Amino acid sequence: MADPTDDNDIEDWLPVLSFDGFLGEEDGEVASKPSVASRRRQKREERAHVRLAHDKARTRELRAVHQVLQALQEALPNLWSRCSSADSGARQEKKVKHPTEEEVEEALTAAAAALQVECPYRRLPQIFAPQEGLEILSSMIDRPPKYQEKYLAQEWSILAKVWALAPNLGPRSGGLAVVDIGAGNGSLALLAGLLLGGHAVLIDHTLPPEPMRVEARLPEQYRDRILRVTGDVGDLDASREIEPILEKHGIRQVVVIAKHLCGTGTDLALKLLRRWCSNGTRVEVLGAVIATCCMHKINTSEEKEVFADIHSSDSYLRKLTGDKDGLLSLLSVCTRCVAWRTTAGAEASRITEKQIRVAEMFEDLLQQPRLKILQHLFPSATEVAFVPFKQSPQNRCLLAGSELGVRRALATGDAGAGAAGEVLAALASARDSLLAVNGTALDLRPHGMVSTRFDYDGT
Ligand SMILES: C[S@@+](CC[C@H](N)C(=O)[O-])C[C@H]1O[C@@H](n2cnc3c(N)ncnc32)[C@H](O)[C@@H]1O
Repeated sequence: MADPTDDNDIEDWLPVLSFDGFLGEEDGEVASKPSVASRRRQKREERAHVRLAHDKARTRELRAVHQVLQALQEALPNLWSRCSSADSGARQEKKVKHPTEEEVEEALTAAAAALQVECPYRRLPQIFAPQEGLEILSSMIDRPPKYQEKYLAQEWSILAKVWALAPNLGPRSGGLAVVDIGAGNGSLALLAGLLLGGHAVLIDHTLPPEPMRVEARLPEQYRDRILRVTGDVGDLDASREIEPILEKHGIRQVVVIAKHLCGTGTDLALKLLRRWCSNGTRVEVLGAVIATCCMHKINTSEEKEVFADIHSSDSYLRKLTGDKDGLLSLLSVCTRCVAWRTTAGAEASRITEKQIRVAEMFEDLLQQPRLKILQHLFPSATEVAFVPFKQSPQNRCLLAGSELGVRRALATGDAGAGAAGEVLAALASARDSLLAVNGTALDLRPHGMVSTRFDYDGT
């Protein structure tokens, strides 16, 4: 398939739009035979006007969508012949060079009908955490203001859901941990540990530089509540590398978090969870909160193989693609376009509404087998939007746990519901405990590390 962003054949389709009226000249009124130079100039001007007209009509973007949908049809021939009329089947043969809005719309509708995703992005419930919690949370940790602005609302929303999935044991319960896969510097896991009154297990293949590690910033009383496992989640065996650590610290129950692991990082986390839960755990896995990210990165041969292997037995994908080769072809088509949704809000973006819809549909498709794994492992699992798109375009979040836990997690987004009030009270209590020990907010600024992105000078 041609790259949708490739413009090297633009000359092919220049003549499609008329440039009459753009030149500001009357038709047919040529005073004298123009010179070669002036004819060339005129030609250049005509081309420039045609380009402008195409630019305004977004023909390139329209064609990109059309090409992708044609490629999808080619990747799923059996499915299409089952779902489409004979007429559209015939159209499949014909490469449409200059698709109209109507043709693209029709192709999009046919694709949606063929893929039949259960949970379309636009129908995800928006479950954001109660706004008042942001102030409480910001009084617990001190970070550069721009960093707080970007991450605090994301963290608070995840925290509220983690809290809802764990029984209300309170700060003195012990025996509970949050296992954060892809924990990075550990801020989120630390906050979750404080909120639940338990431990935080930080798993990451990369140990952050010392100034960024939360454990170095904690008062003595809290330090032993942070446990690190350094390793690739794809290689970890929970019964060998995680459970012994949990047992050593008297941890009997865990909630798993995986926030914004790019590409197949999420799938590897799910694979670990699947193996952990299926092999009979020595601890109880109460639930999982998984915010997914950057599905366009599932585009290298290696990443596609990883995804295909992990989801090889998924019934939805099997129905679509038949076998692994079919799935690999499907991945090649969809992963190159999913970034259309998440980059649409970027400055000077020319992404169109139709491109966004295609990207959403492909994300829905990739997300479906992930949700199915969780539905298989837990009594209840669902997907939500956890922050507004403008806070983070990567705002899809899978939630799993007991039926009550998931119901409670969903209720934290409803300001009038008891769960929202309860999680706020739990957070306020965690803040009081922390301030009683530390006297002030935890200093999590990465001293000595300058960041232009976050406008931080390292002090
Ligand atoms: C975008 S960061 C997110 C960090 C943190 N969860 C947050 O949301 O602030 C992704 C993190 O996942 C880690 N990661 C990605 N793939 C991983 C893997 N296969 N195994 C372990 N860690 C991984 C990266 O090292 C990085 O720290």
